[in-house]
Amino acid sequence: MPATLPSFKPETATDRLILPLDVATVEEARAIVQETKGVVGVYKVGMQLQFAGGLPFAEELAREGHRVFLDVKLLDIDNTVQKAVENIIRMGMHFVTIHAYPKTMRAAVAGRGEAPVCLLGVTVLTSMDTEDMKAAGYNGDVEELVKTRTIAARAAGMGGIVCSPLEVGQLRELAGPDMVLVTPGIRPAGSDAGDQKRIMTPGEAIAAGSDYLVIGRPITQAADRRAAAQAVVAEIEAAL
Ligand code: C5P
Repeated sequence: MPATLPSFKPETATDRLILPLDVATVEEARAIVQETKGVVGVYKVGMQLQFAGGLPFAEELAREGHRVFLDVKLLDIDNTVQKAVENIIRMGMHFVTIHAYPKTMRAAVAGRGEAPVCLLGVTVLTSMDTEDMKAAGYNGDVEELVKTRTIAARAAGMGGIVCSPLEVGQLRELAGPDMVLVTPGIRPAGSDAGDQKRIMTPGEAIAAGSDYLVIGRPITQAADRRAAAQAVVAEIEAAL
């Protein structure tokens, strides 16, 4: 990353908690933000909400002073990705995801320039295993591909990567000390895993070296969302 970019490393335990607003409407998302204000570091607006007014809502959150993660997973021709990133910067986003193809990441970095936004490379979706990748025409091992793409993300000047918490240990060295490692697939002990297969608890993920934890349903589906978020932050704090 250019020396002029700010560090995107988290400072507090709360900073490290990313809450995905994976709900059908902006009204529901707004209610979740109201309930969890101050105990969540970053709100993530992903594909579901983007198709239901999520983009103006993401800008609204940023204007209110929240850190916002726009999970758009960009992949297109270089010029389009570069121009998309230029516009996303104007929205005041803190994190933005790009599929970790080397060319695509270089285009995104050209669009970012020295703007204070952390571009995150999505190495290989954690829902994909070696069989799924083979079906898609990739014959190598998924773990090797994740490593290759992590090295490419660093070389391109990305701010970090999204990866499985189980990969953090081996990726830190390849990613270097400055890139942030963002990990979904986190489940507090005793909570329902849902469709996540390769999971770690918040404490385990922090101990493994994750910088940021994406934790959705265990918080958004809790009867008391604020208490659920506070419990996760306490577990992060204890693991630091
Ligand atoms: O509810 P849950 O904690 O499973 O939410 C995880 C979030 O992280 C979702 O928004 C999902 O889209 C996202 N994510 C993921 N695995 C990836 C990349 C993103 O679960 N590899």
